[in-house]
Amino acid sequence: MTVPHTPAAPAAPAHARPVRKAVVPAAGLGTRFLPATKATPKEMLPVVDKPAIQYVVEEAAAAGLDDVLMITGRHKRAIEDHFDHAFELEQALAAKGDTLRLDAVRDPARLAAIHHIRQGEPLGLGHAVLCARRHVGAEPFAVLLGDDLVDPRETLLSRMLDVRDEHRGSVVALMEVPREQIHLYGCAAVERTGQDDVVRVTGLVEKPSPQNPPSTYAVIGRYVLDPAVFDTLERTPPGRGGEIQLTDALQELAVGGTVHGVVFDGLRYDTGDKADYLRTVVRLACDRPDLGPEFLAWLREFVAAAESGETGRQGLAA
Ligand code: G1P
Repeated sequence: MTVPHTPAAPAAPAHARPVRKAVVPAAGLGTRFLPATKATPKEMLPVVDKPAIQYVVEEAAAAGLDDVLMITGRHKRAIEDHFDHAFELEQALAAKGDTLRLDAVRDPARLAAIHHIRQGEPLGLGHAVLCARRHVGAEPFAVLLGDDLVDPRETLLSRMLDVRDEHRGSVVALMEVPREQIHLYGCAAVERTGQDDVVRVTGLVEKPSPQNPPSTYAVIGRYVLDPAVFDTLERTPPGRGGEIQLTDALQELAVGGTVHGVVFDGLRYDTGDKADYLRTVVRLACDRPDLGPEFLAWLREFVAAAESGETGRQGLAA
């Protein structure tokens, strides 16, 4: 039998390839949440009833990215287990006919093809991203940081992918923050474009001094990166905190005129900070149809009791 010869389609040039892969750095020690994070990765801390990192993978999947690479470190086995099948648990739930929980247990492994590699040495976010080079290859890719949760109703990542399609190069997510907070972030100097929510990034500084930051635009933990970032990261020396900073590599690309920013003013939660973590849990619990109404009613009573100076056990009972 003769097989008709179909010529192989020429590979698209790197700049024209679609974004399919997401990289999720998850190697941090989580010292801000000790002792909770002594034996549990911070990414596995529950936000209502899902670990924080599941929201991030769901966000990537919702934007059409079906390949997720986790950059982990030691003591991160729980992350691998979470995105794997749990055969015995699934069998037990199936035997009970508990399809709701069975789905909840199966969902994480169905979200995307999930891969894991270890960073080996804690040399910084830029180094973590560089660890993805072999897996990502010559394609543009997204990076999602687990400490930033973007509300599931937002479409920030899809918008960033559109902006990458239009402008090529790399795209960062920016949010205006109060001036006294900008020193906690990567900070972008920007120029307007013709589009309201898109700016050209002319410079980036990791955690600028509070006295003279270039702007109040903070880089929040979503990036769509051109593979050119890998060569830049290879030669990026340790920066702030003695770590290889992704912001420093992007600064070099920004000077070359190839970085844009999507200005986001939607709902974003910082789960890396204790107070913000608590706010996130409360907010997302209130939004849940199965929990929200009852929880919100309790919360109102609790706040009213606290405001009227009632302390102790009052207002605490469910
Ligand atoms: C990292 C980045 C920083 C960015 C921030 C967003 O910092 O280095 O540029 O603004 O995430 O959350 P980290 O919070 O890990 O210190």
